[in-house]
This record gives sequence, C-alpha cells and structure tokens, in this order.
Amino acid sequence: MPVIAVVGGQWGDEGKGKIIDLLAGRAHVVVRAQGGDNAGHTVVNPRGKFALHLVPAGIFNEQTRCLIGPGVALNPDTLLSEMDELARRGVATNNLVISARAHLVMPYHPLFDRLEEEARGAGAIGTTGRGIGPTYADKVARAGIVAGDLLRPDRFREKVRTAVGRKNRILDRLYGAPPVDADVIVETYLGHADQLGEYIAESEPILEQALKDGRTILLEGGHGTMLDIDHGTYPYVTTTSCTVGGLLNGAGIGPRHLTTAIGVFKAYQSRVGGGAMPSELLDATGGHIRERGHEYGTTTGRPRRVGWFDAVAARHSMVVNGFHSIALTRIDILDDLDELRVCVAYELDGERIGHVPSQIEDLARCQPVYEGMSGWRTPTGEAQSWKDLPRQAQEYVRLIEDSVGVPAGLIGVGQEREKTIFTGALP
Ligand code: GDP
Ligand code: IMO
Ligand code: MG
Repeated sequence: MPVIAVVGGQWGDEGKGKIIDLLAGRAHVVVRAQGGDNAGHTVVNPRGKFALHLVPAGIFNEQTRCLIGPGVALNPDTLLSEMDELARRGVATNNLVISARAHLVMPYHPLFDRLEEEARGAGAIGTTGRGIGPTYADKVARAGIVAGDLLRPDRFREKVRTAVGRKNRILDRLYGAPPVDADVIVETYLGHADQLGEYIAESEPILEQALKDGRTILLEGGHGTMLDIDHGTYPYVTTTSCTVGGLLNGAGIGPRHLTTAIGVFKAYQSRVGGGAMPSELLDATGGHIRERGHEYGTTTGRPRRVGWFDAVAARHSMVVNGFHSIALTRIDILDDLDELRVCVAYELDGERIGHVPSQIEDLARCQPVYEGMSGWRTPTGEAQSWKDLPRQAQEYVRLIEDSVGVPAGLIGVGQEREKTIFTGALP
C-alpha cells in the first residue's frame, strides 16, 4: 500500500507537477494536501502543456481520483476556471473530489492580502496576492468557512454575514477601505456551489478504502520546504506546512502509512518574492539561467530569483522531511555553463557554519562557501539513462547526492513527462 509524498525541497517551483504527472499513472488517488492557488504546477505531457493551481496533477489519468484535501485553501473561482480550461482542452475532471473540510478563500481574503502587504512596506513578503495567508489566518482563528458549508445555503449565508461584519469593521477602522457586500458574496458563491456541489465529499472514506485495498496514494506538495511556515525562512514564507509531515496531515493520512518520501530539487534553485537566499546569483550567470530556464512565476509571471544549488538549505530540508530519495530536475538548464558551483557551507560573521540560521537577519548576512567544478557543455535533453549523461553531469549529480545524503531516483532533462531518467534508486 504505497503512500508516496512528493515534496518541494527548496523554495518552490522545483518541478513537483512534472513528477506527480509522471508517477500518477500508477496511482489510485492523488491528493493536493496543502496550500492553495498560490501554487503553480506545470505539466507537459502528450495532452499538452498545463499550468495547474488547485487541480492535482494526476488529473490526466481518468482512473485516478484527484482529491483536493482537507488542508487546502480552496478558491472556487480559480478552481472553476481551471476545470473549464481542462474541459476545453479535452481533459475530463469527473475524477475530481473536493474535501468538505477544505477552507474557502473568500473574496475578502485577496483584498486583505494586498492591504497587509502594503502595510508591510519595505518588509513586504512578496506574496502571490491570492489571499492564502488571510484564509489560513481565519482558519486558525476558527473563523473560516469550509467547502462543506457551500452545501448548506442557510448556514453558509449566516457564516458569510458574520464574517463580513467583522471584516468590514477592520477594513474601515484599520485600513480606511470601503466595505465588502455579504449578499453579493453569498450570491456568487452559491452560484459556484451549483457547479462544484457534486464534487464536494467527505474525503476520509475514500482514503480509508484506498489504504485498505493497498492502492497507491500520491501526495502532491505545494510550494517548498524553505517556504514552510515552521521550518522555512520566516517570515518570508507561505502559511502552510509544506513538508512530508504537513502533507500527511493536510491529506488526513497517518505517518505510519507513508512508504516513500521524494524530495524534488532543482539542479540549481529559484525563489519568488522577498527573503534571503545566500547563494543567489545577481550576475550574468543568474541572468543566463533565468532566461534559459524561463524562470518566471507560473502563478504571477514574476521573474524568479535564481542561485547555485544550496546544499546547506538542502540538508535542512532533508532533516525536516526525511526524504528516501530525491528527484533532481532541470539539469539540462545548466548544459551551457563553463563552471558550476554548489554552496556547501555559509560564513556568518567570519565563522563557517553548516546549518540554516533561524533568524532571517542572520541568514541575510550569510555568505555562501562554494565548491566548484567544470560544466559539461553538452546537451543532456536527449539522455534516457544514467549512462547517457556526460561524465561531469554525473559528477554534479553525485556531488548533490553526497551533500543531501540520499540518491537521486529521478533526474529531469526536459519539461516533458518522458524527459526523465529513472536511475533505479527510487524505493
Ligand atoms: P512546481 O511548482 O514545483 O510544480 O514547478 P513549476 O511548474 O512552477 O516550475 C518548474 C518548471 O520546470 C516548469 O516549467 C516545468 O515544466 C519545468 N521542468 C520540470 N522538470 C524539468 C526538467 O527536468 N527540465 C526542464 N528543462 N524543465 C523542467
Ligand atoms: P509552487 O507550488 C514559489 C511564495 C511567494 C511568497 C511567499 C508567500 O508552485 O512551488 P503566499 O502567496 O503563499 O502568501 O506567498 O511564498 N510562494 C511560492 N513561490 N512557488 C510556489 O508554489 C509558491 N507559493 C508561495 O512568492 O514569496
Ligand atoms: Mg510552481
């Protein structure tokens, strides 16, 4: 009864969507477990190229149940657009299930996201503006509205009116902003409920049955470990637990059931939004990687900051997640480089350290300590097996494997599903 978690090992956009799409063919259920439409997961397969924000990347397999789990922040408007787009392109979505427990992103949440970011001024986090932080803040404050409420219009109306009453007082007194209209929200969302109602269900029996039957369950992580609310570069983080533990919890599956945890890492790294990233490349090499890798946000289109592979952050991610193996994506993006570097330690105030400091001010002062090697300067995009990779590319993979302490079971050499090398190291 394999339960496989696929988790971002860095600051997001590692290629989780591709790996889920690749593995989903053998899964009975794929669960998006946390986060919301702040995620942008790209899939390139024989059906075309897709940018998914809420729909699990297993959707291309009709036999796979795709569950939006209890831990997700669900924006019904985005979900409906995504479902329409998939339907328009011939991808059926009748295998989709929405957990009744998933919290709803309400129209005032993106509004508060914007106002809070403005109030942060120079310390702005650089959120995606999707209202995810305010949605989870309401959830934790026990003031949230869940997908299951959409099925009970009277209760839904009452909850929205109560919430809007409080929000409008804050909008007026704290931000001097105009009020939102509860009745308009109720109308719009009950309209969404007409379309989404049939997908909303109790997710627990589905997972219980799949576990009992020994079926394969894939957990699809949103974001990355360094953006985790507890273990990331706080406060420049998202508002969920993006780790293996967070996924199990967000899906509603006990840790005993987990069989494999795969950490997805880019062969270099990227970050969108604010916050320190010690191995950031602000020079021409960074520009080259950004353009060659088309490192622009899937959700917001913002240019992504890029940097050398940070093995210090990767080890942090290893400890927090306990990965069995890694999926190393995008080595093809490095094909043109003369020299490659891996950040093996930080220097903080003249002292060499091997861990990620907890205080963001300290992390911002960390200087990267690099180990370098020459590049392979050979296209890797057509490589189908380990032996097809140039020797320096193999050495680079080994260097990363040694630094994180587990083997790369999958190596990505292109966007397309089939541009993936199975090394045999996947448990
Ligand atoms: P996610 O959020 O982790 O799913 O990642 P994104 O989809 O936001 O960004 C990863 C990008 O890398 C997408 O454009 C993927 O299609 C692409 N990608 C994934 N693996 C590879 C790979 O091995 N090589 C190349 N060139 N692109 C890849
Ligand atoms: P995927 O799943 C990259 C970042 C935002 C911002 C911070 C907080 O595609 O890897 P939020 O809107 O979540 O409150 O923003 O987190 N962020 C991501 N960066 N990929 C993502 O998702 C991200 N999700 C959130 O850029 O810095
Ligand atoms: Mg992404």
